[in-house]
Amino acid sequence: MQNRRKLFARAVATAAVALAAVSLQPAGAAMAGTPDEPSTRIVGGTPAEQGEFPWMVRLSMGCGGALYAKDVVLTAAHCVDGSGPNTGITATGGVVDLDDPAAVSVKSTEVLQAPGYNGTGKDWALIKLAEPIDQPTLKIAENDAGNNGDFTIAGWGADVEGGQQQQKMLKATVPFVDDDTCKGAYAELVPGEELCAGLMDQGGVDSCQGDSGGPMFRKDEAGEWLQVGIVSWGEGCARPGKPGVYTEVSTFAADIKAGAGQLG
Ligand code: ARG
Repeated sequence: MQNRRKLFARAVATAAVALAAVSLQPAGAAMAGTPDEPSTRIVGGTPAEQGEFPWMVRLSMGCGGALYAKDVVLTAAHCVDGSGPNTGITATGGVVDLDDPAAVSVKSTEVLQAPGYNGTGKDWALIKLAEPIDQPTLKIAENDAGNNGDFTIAGWGADVEGGQQQQKMLKATVPFVDDDTCKGAYAELVPGEELCAGLMDQGGVDSCQGDSGGPMFRKDEAGEWLQVGIVSWGEGCARPGKPGVYTEVSTFAADIKAGAGQLG
């Protein structure tokens, strides 16, 4: 697992950008995209609308992230090299199309990788930005009330297993998979720290390489977006019986809050 994850991160770092999802919708239902987009760009996921998920950021090492604060990005531990001063990461926000001239790119100043992270569980990290990105932030789940139902995932990762990073953000919906079922798929699962989602029977919808670090989110009772997961790992992408594994954000909410307070 540890090796697999590291390999994934490396592969992504050398690739370009993006989110991948394979969807179950008929091609005709795919939609809404702009006319210049090839209809083959994604099997099942759909383009996110400009402004739909304003807290989404793309990170220069090939991961996703979400604005926890205007100048703090929540991402995956496996997307960063460790903790400390770090000016080597660029976060790009404010756009669904990374080539949009309206994109705002800001450098990092510091990274906090989850204390105790060793490649299994605890897959979260915070990146402090040199300047705020003036977009709405994404609230994190502080309890497990939201760990059920359907979730939204989004990013610029591969749109199919082994595929290319995407220039335009994609989104998809994936259902919660309970720990027992997920443990059946992955013996190495850390149930208290990881949350699974995907279509167990048919597969076909998932996050993929390059989506790591990006948020998995849902609406809370008040109708506000709430981050419940961080894209972490999976065997391949969108395979039947192999759901996506996400960091269980509620487990680490207090640590994330404290960590953000410690950033310089
Ligand atoms: N570890 C991958 C990354 O670095 C994310 C893999 C997610 N895989 C999945 N099947 N949901 O981008």
